[in-house]
Amino acid sequence: MGKLHIVGGGAIGSLIAASAQKNGVPYDCYPRDRKSMPSWAQWQDGQTTMLKPAKFAPVALAETDVLILPLKVYQLKAALLQWLPYLTQQPTVVLLHNGMGGLEAATELLGCDYPLLLATTSHGALKVKASTGDVYVQYTGVGATQIGAPDFGTGTPQTLTALSASAPQLANAIAMLDTALPPVQYQDDILKALWTKLSVNAVINPLTALHNIQNKYIADTEFEQSRNAICDEFTQVANACGLEFDAQTVHKNVLSVAKATGENFSSMHQDVAHGRQTEIDAINGYIVEMAKKKGIPVPENTLLVERVKALSL
Ligand code: PAF
Repeated sequence: MGKLHIVGGGAIGSLIAASAQKNGVPYDCYPRDRKSMPSWAQWQDGQTTMLKPAKFAPVALAETDVLILPLKVYQLKAALLQWLPYLTQQPTVVLLHNGMGGLEAATELLGCDYPLLLATTSHGALKVKASTGDVYVQYTGVGATQIGAPDFGTGTPQTLTALSASAPQLANAIAMLDTALPPVQYQDDILKALWTKLSVNAVINPLTALHNIQNKYIADTEFEQSRNAICDEFTQVANACGLEFDAQTVHKNVLSVAKATGENFSSMHQDVAHGRQTEIDAINGYIVEMAKKKGIPVPENTLLVERVKALSL
């Protein structure tokens, strides 16, 4: 078995590392800032797992290794540039982030033939500072990870059996991730899964950030008009980009995720609360960008981008 290399010391990356440790998958972590890297994880039953010390610098990876990048989209290009000299054996690279634009950034640097997987996760994790000053990661919600290979517009979905035959390296990487932090569910149409997550983030994230509320409150009637407008615009843009969605189903799904993660503060809410850069460009900004290309007016998404950006001025 190869090794799992986790870039960044965010909550999801640390959760993957802790779960890999618990499940006996060899791994290393490469946080940007070693001081903010959690030292242990706390599971929902109160048990804890110690993380091994983080690495300082990239190392040359083997073909059987997996490099996973649970980063913000805007951090991806710099991270890939740093790792590029160490990827000559073409280990599998896995992108795991909210929003869109990662595939474009990765293919620009790695090329279209590179063994690449795209993933989205619904696991919940939070970095917490203990009274001792140590940082730990808390598992806040059991979820699942959806993963698949980009088809680069060929429009031919591959089953996992077909992928195992045509690209065993990718199938092995999926199996490794499933052992590290299960469940990892293969999606033959990963782009549809990513756009579905985009619709959820496009509604929950800006509304929770702008109104300083937990996820569950976006279901309140005062946000109905905005929810409908975001979902309608999203659906028009997605359809124009060749993805089949209908606005009612999109809206229903958003509400069910808001309910399931009701007590959470969204990642954008947290970014605003801690004065960090938000992912608005990769979420509603991506919808606006695609809408421009397709000549579709998207006033609600445009306004949300402006308003979220104004929060950090
Ligand atoms: O970005 C987030 O916070 C999450 O993707 C989600 C699903 C909105 C839950 O908080």
